[in-house]
Amino acid sequence: MTELFFQRHRRLRQSAGIRAMVKETYLHKEDLIYPIFVMEGENIKNEVSSMPGVFQFSLDRLNEEVDEVVDLGIPSVILFGLPAEKDAVGSGAYHNHGIVQEAIRQIKARHPQLIVIADTCLCEFTDHGHCGVVDENERILNDPSLDLLAKTAISQAEAGADIIAPSNMMDGFVAAIRLGLDEAGYKDIPIMSYAVKYASAYYGPFREAADGAPKFGDRKTYQMDYSNRMEAIREASSDVQEGADFLIVKPALAYLDIIRDVKNTFATPIVAYNVSGEYAMVKAAAINGWINEKETVLETLTGMKRAGADMILTYHAKDVARWLEGK
Ligand code: PBG
Ligand code: ZN
Repeated sequence: MTELFFQRHRRLRQSAGIRAMVKETYLHKEDLIYPIFVMEGENIKNEVSSMPGVFQFSLDRLNEEVDEVVDLGIPSVILFGLPAEKDAVGSGAYHNHGIVQEAIRQIKARHPQLIVIADTCLCEFTDHGHCGVVDENERILNDPSLDLLAKTAISQAEAGADIIAPSNMMDGFVAAIRLGLDEAGYKDIPIMSYAVKYASAYYGPFREAADGAPKFGDRKTYQMDYSNRMEAIREASSDVQEGADFLIVKPALAYLDIIRDVKNTFATPIVAYNVSGEYAMVKAAAINGWINEKETVLETLTGMKRAGADMILTYHAKDVARWLEGK
């Protein structure tokens, strides 16, 4: 009688103890970066309608949020700002007392050990809502935008930002910001580049949260086409050459292949940005009772780490930190 031979994979799944021994990927709260929206004004804590659990804060209400993040053991936050006024050149982005600069000062004074990352872009500060300056034919101009981005980064570093995270997708932005920071004496401030950023429908809720939707056209002349994979390597490669210390891939969920490609190609830490639309979808289903929020989020974020992310920028960070503690 011939015996059937096959592998018994279930041997390594038979108990929680054995499963824990062979577990390959871990999510740690040290991996998390929590986004915070800061807004000019007083006594503001506005929930973003498409992002339940995410709020815009004025500076006088910001401490409650930041204290909670610190108490939960989340090591870092990234700041997005909503200024009182916008103009064609996004002056609020590089104003020494702009909303982001003041938020950085306030947070660093209260929690010196919390890593404060500054998103460096113009779209929340320009009246047209684009990430660079625009000409009379509504073209987004590359090189004139670089000076403004470098000014923005320098003012954020002056305010005490620990890391500069430029998200504008102009060509040469890492080179321009690195040179600007170095010349201003900030050689030790790392750049976390949004190196691989696709033009995505998943940014919808964020544009409400940060009031940064373009008033005309779209971002397809500067953000990437989601059909493209090789292009991600070109984008990441130029940023590494220009001096990026971290590479962000964004969005994350529909781009796990890209996270893996970038991880396998470059030796820099890789950050996955689990964006607003990804958060909104999970929240909507969870609120309806259609999925288990905790299990879904842990599975999704573990998938991002398994794909190659070293860190995850996520609106779920506070919940994840609680769940990892068993709370
Ligand atoms: C703007 C910016 C965007 C996000 C981060 N920075 C939106 C955009 O490019 O339109 C998206 C973040 C998210 O959706 O969570 N430079
Ligand atoms: Zn932008």
